[in-house]
Amino acid sequence: MIMKPEDYTTGDAFQAEKRTFFATEWLPLCAEGQIARPGDFLSASVGGWSVFGVRDGAGALHVLRNACRHQNMPVVGTPSGNCESFRCRFHGWTYDLQGRFLSAPPPVAPADPKSPDLHLPALTTAVVSGLVVFSLGTPAPPPDLGGPPGAYGGTLTTEIACNWKVGVEHLLAEHPIAEEGPSPDFVWHWPLLALRRAGAVTIVEQIVPHTFLRTKLLTHVFGGAADDYRQAAGTIKHVCERLQADRAAGTPAVDDGALLADFHRRLAQAYAQDSKST
Ligand code: FES
Repeated sequence: MIMKPEDYTTGDAFQAEKRTFFATEWLPLCAEGQIARPGDFLSASVGGWSVFGVRDGAGALHVLRNACRHQNMPVVGTPSGNCESFRCRFHGWTYDLQGRFLSAPPPVAPADPKSPDLHLPALTTAVVSGLVVFSLGTPAPPPDLGGPPGAYGGTLTTEIACNWKVGVEHLLAEHPIAEEGPSPDFVWHWPLLALRRAGAVTIVEQIVPHTFLRTKLLTHVFGGAADDYRQAAGTIKHVCERLQADRAAGTPAVDDGALLADFHRRLAQAYAQDSKST
């Protein structure tokens, strides 16, 4: 499939992606090690969905919609931290570490404070290969990313001024499938995860589509130190921002390899499905 410049530069394509597959697929949130202690939380906007992950007092993980039940404003306003409860900064509705409604100031208190409708919506959540994944839909079993990686060595966060698809294309172009078949040391999981192994080290590259022109790359390192991959992450940023300029100027992405062709085929299916239903 030949992608069009507007697929990389407009909110329309991003909204179609949000409706068709970000709303239904398993999406990565973070490494489990990023929310390791009770009370640790991490918020993100993934494919247009505002969510946060939190570890409760018993050690269980939850991914919740970041939308207050009072007036739908974000409950969590910082990227990450540690707390005992969540207090919405707008009017003071408070939730526990599982997203259950606790209390509200009398002037804005709900009529029935025991209603389960007051709890923050909990999303389907799983941990696979050291990563927290979630879904807004009812997907198939969570992705199989292989056996457990080594000890968690940290995460690098890189902000990239590009469309998320440019980031995926770059990761896939770096790993063309050889004639003898796919490498067991590189796994891509549609739509946002690439995992590669280098000896005892496993590097998981997580693409976070923040807006149609802003993307985060989270580089999770297992069995090694995250700092060792800082230069590589900087190179990815540099290349992706150059590629974004190329796409905006009309230079199409080429299906150079089976993984890229599969990525573009899935996108074409999603756009076709969206145009039928809207
Ligand atoms: S929007 Fe959260 S308390 Fe009002």
